Amino acid sequence: MLTIGPYVLPSRAVLAPMAGVTDRPFRILCRKLGAGLAASEMLTSDVRLWNTSKSRLRMSHEGEPEPRVVQLAGADPAALAEAARLNVDRGAQIIDLNMGCPAKKVCGKLCGSALLQDEPLVARILETVVSSVSVPVTLKIRTGWNRERRNGVSIARIAESCGIQALAVHGRTRADFYEGAAEYETIRAIKSTVRIPVFANGDINDAQKAREVLDFTGADGVMIGRASHGAPWIFRSVNAFLADRNAHAALSRTEVRDIILAHLDSLYVFYGEGTGVRIARKHLGWYCEQCFPDSAQVRRDLMGASSTAAQFALASKHFDEWVHRAAQAA
Ligand SMILES: Cc1cc2nc3c(=O)[nH]c(=O)nc-3n(C[C@H](O)[C@H](O)[C@H](O)COP(=O)(O)O)c2cc1C
Repeated sequence: MLTIGPYVLPSRAVLAPMAGVTDRPFRILCRKLGAGLAASEMLTSDVRLWNTSKSRLRMSHEGEPEPRVVQLAGADPAALAEAARLNVDRGAQIIDLNMGCPAKKVCGKLCGSALLQDEPLVARILETVVSSVSVPVTLKIRTGWNRERRNGVSIARIAESCGIQALAVHGRTRADFYEGAAEYETIRAIKSTVRIPVFANGDINDAQKAREVLDFTGADGVMIGRASHGAPWIFRSVNAFLADRNAHAALSRTEVRDIILAHLDSLYVFYGEGTGVRIARKHLGWYCEQCFPDSAQVRRDLMGASSTAAQFALASKHFDEWVHRAAQAA
């Protein structure tokens, strides 16, 4: 049983926080399809920047299943603590701290994985935030600053001693950005060092890989990011495979179409007309890679729609045809 504080997670496979992707509609969708947890897109700890529509949407949790996780990014312990408190007041049930993002600057200062090079600052941030909220605080890191200074184990020790209640580790260093393959040796070393739950992250793109990474690292769970793009049902198949290697969790084309159309609808409701079309375009592009890998025409057609009504009508048409083609071939 995988628990974080008082919360028992329904699955060992969780959605990775991804700015621009893990908005409320996508989190709710992935949770419905079996993700054990789904953290929000990172929110800056600088409360002066919260008065934008982007930040307001990032802090919205209506209809989201528990536990609601808010990820914060920043470098100033007091500001992070204040941001954590405010988010708990607004419904966050777990606060996740981002020390995994490779961007040079988030909110104008070095933060994210850049913090990994300053262990005393990491300790100050973690102690301050943990002591300022009553909910569990979790941490997301990379394996270290760079390959010469892979200090993930040391950071994990600091995290545990500061009261962090779960750790997600992306198997790359900050210097790696997204290049090369993720390595899992450091995650294994971290897991064997600390007693808090550890999630292995990086390049887990199907159920088989999830099983292999869990077996190799001994991690308590896996965190899946990019492989959920256009395939939020990956959590369903990982869960089924982890429960029984011979289980088949494949969805019918009808079910896939219905999920995609309902996803579009939820994006329109959440973002409204203009932004709704733009955000839905991104997801449609990913769904096209899954469902129409050989049809540039369908993709062009869907990308060209400029209103929610036109986009939805085109998506219905193309995904209906996709369902019927399979029925005819059967
Ligand atoms: C588009 C995108 C946005 C991301 N944004 C965040 C973020 O806001 N916070 C964070 O901790 N990591 C972020 N990440 C990193 C992911 O959480 C994850 O660690 C990384 O993608 C590796 O996992 P994967 O190979 O399963 O995608 C982001 C990754 C991507 C691709």
